Amino acid sequence: MADARWRPALPTDLVRIAEWIGSAQALEHWAGPGLSWPTDGPRLWREIDGGGLLSFCLVSGSEPLAFGQLVVKGERHYHLARIIVSPARRRQGLGEALCRRLLDEARQRRAERVTLNVFTDNGTAIDLYRRLGFTECGSADSRGIRPMQLRQFVANVDNDLP
Ligand SMILES: CC(C)(COP(=O)(O)OP(=O)(O)OC[C@H]1O[C@@H](n2cnc3c(N)ncnc32)[C@H](O)[C@@H]1OP(=O)(O)O)[C@@H](O)C(=O)NCCC(=O)NCCS
Repeated sequence: MADARWRPALPTDLVRIAEWIGSAQALEHWAGPGLSWPTDGPRLWREIDGGGLLSFCLVSGSEPLAFGQLVVKGERHYHLARIIVSPARRRQGLGEALCRRLLDEARQRRAERVTLNVFTDNGTAIDLYRRLGFTECGSADSRGIRPMQLRQFVANVDNDLP
């Protein structure tokens, strides 16, 4: 991970990231329902609003290692989305490093609430989010998508109350 650098994502990153997605189901598990399959870099960039949302990459040189987005959901409420690590670099701590950088970005923007959505059968992702302190904050919908929130940010809000 010593080689990893953090920067805003570029459209060219999505060309490589599209190659990490092997099926319509993998696409849905990563990015949620409603995206086109098969996909490619320009289509992905457009459909996940890479230019409009806060989109970041961990890179080695010009090569993306991991990608994620921050979605503004409301005043001081940020949502982690489209978290993904290169299949060749998984189980090396990059997923955790990516999420910690996204949380830093949210903190710098004075977030008081951070949430995410995850499919209930995505055990690896759920384990990662639990390790970071996220907890379930509602039941799964009919598609099996469950919301989680980070307690630490919520606790900070409570502490700030008069
Ligand atoms: C979910 C995802 C982002 C996790 O990325 P990752 O880089 O593998 O995550 P980490 O390395 O931080 O943690 C994964 C596991 O590797 C382990 N690990 C971390 N560093 C390690 C190391 N140096 N040696 C061995 N294991 C290690 C972690 O303990 C963790 O173990 P666990 O699954 O038993 O809890 C990745 O699997 C992915 O891109 N999945 C496809 C897209 C997706 O589903 N995204 C989530 C959408 S909600």
